[in-house]
Amino acid sequence: MRIDIITCLPRLLESPFNDSILKRAREKNLVTVEVHDLRDYTVDPHRTTDDYAFGGGAGMVMMIEPIHRCILSLTAKAKYDDIIYMSPDGEVLTQSLANQLSMKENLILLCGHYKGVDERVRQHLITREISIGDYVLSGGELAAAVVSDAIIRLIPGVLSDESSALTDSFQDGILAPEVYTRPAEYKGWTVPGVLLSGNPALIDAWRQENALERTKKRRPGLFQGI
Ligand code: ADE
Repeated sequence: MRIDIITCLPRLLESPFNDSILKRAREKNLVTVEVHDLRDYTVDPHRTTDDYAFGGGAGMVMMIEPIHRCILSLTAKAKYDDIIYMSPDGEVLTQSLANQLSMKENLILLCGHYKGVDERVRQHLITREISIGDYVLSGGELAAAVVSDAIIRLIPGVLSDESSALTDSFQDGILAPEVYTRPAEYKGWTVPGVLLSGNPALIDAWRQENALERTKKRRPGLFQGI
């Protein structure tokens, strides 16, 4: 898989892809992540990527030309399954959407800033919009990192067996069960005895029950959807 991220703040995306699981996925060539600085696609000496909104009002708007130039230079070299604009107005990211996106070959993520992008970008240049939740971030970069992380960890070979994505919360529509590790007792706080029983069938049954109970208590909306 290949993910191309277009941004006017490329430094914001340096660390998420250079550590831990995402770094290993890149080193194993399971994913290529390229960050493109929108300013490299401007033609004026000030490398301007935004301008005042027509009609007035506070806040700058990202211009269509550098974005279009950048998208054209990428699409000339590869075919993309989706060109995604990161936006609080978009479809909200869920595990199910991450699963779908993890099966794509090539994706472009466009990060907005300021008051957003010229509406014509949304009308003509992108294929979908994704939000990571109902709140407004200062830009789409952190959201692009979240979407990329949620997708990349699902690519076969990225996670080791013991951290398999199949046991994650939401993967089957419910939260994951509680987990514990050594010591079995700490300051009098104990671990559920069944987990120490060595009986895999009992442990599985307990985990299933615990996951359902937890979902019912913490996320009743999810539970009703089961
Ligand atoms: N850009 C600003 N806020 C955002 C959000 N909640 N999701 C995706 N992109 C954003």
